[in-house]
Amino acid sequence: MFLEEAIKKRRSIRTYTTKPLTLAALSQLLFAAQGITTEHNGYALRSAPSAGAVYPFDIYVIVNNVENVRQGIYRYHVDDHALELIKSGDFRAQSSDACLGQETVRRGAVTFLW
Ligand SMILES: Cc1cc2nc3c(=O)[nH]c(=O)nc-3n(C[C@H](O)[C@H](O)[C@H](O)COP(=O)(O)O)c2cc1C
Repeated sequence: MFLEEAIKKRRSIRTYTTKPLTLAALSQLLFAAQGITTEHNGYALRSAPSAGAVYPFDIYVIVNNVENVRQGIYRYHVDDHALELIKSGDFRAQSSDACLGQETVRRGAVTFLW
């Protein structure tokens, strides 16, 4: 599919399969969000732009349903493309409550926090 066609056809969706997300798919999403793509003049440049290449935020992932990954809150370490477990547990209810009770947040395999 051409990019233009993908842009025209895209819509937000709020219903998901209950099948677990694969770790490979989560890895791909994290790379697309903030992965390091090249080094330039001493800067590790990433897949998404940032003013002054300072990338002034972190990504956390709430894992609800990912193959072979324990439920919990993880921090994404960009430098080594790795997840660090911050707190294990089921955070579906809390994360949904924090998003004004949106059910869609409870049902997702993962929730990304910036
Ligand atoms: C900054 C931002 C925040 C959003 N927050 C939510 C949200 O909390 N819940 C939700 O269901 N959709 C959210 N959306 C998606 C919008 O509701 C959606 O993009 C809009 O209705 C247009 O529909 P479309 O994405 O299908 O074209 C958000 C979109 C943006 C850009």
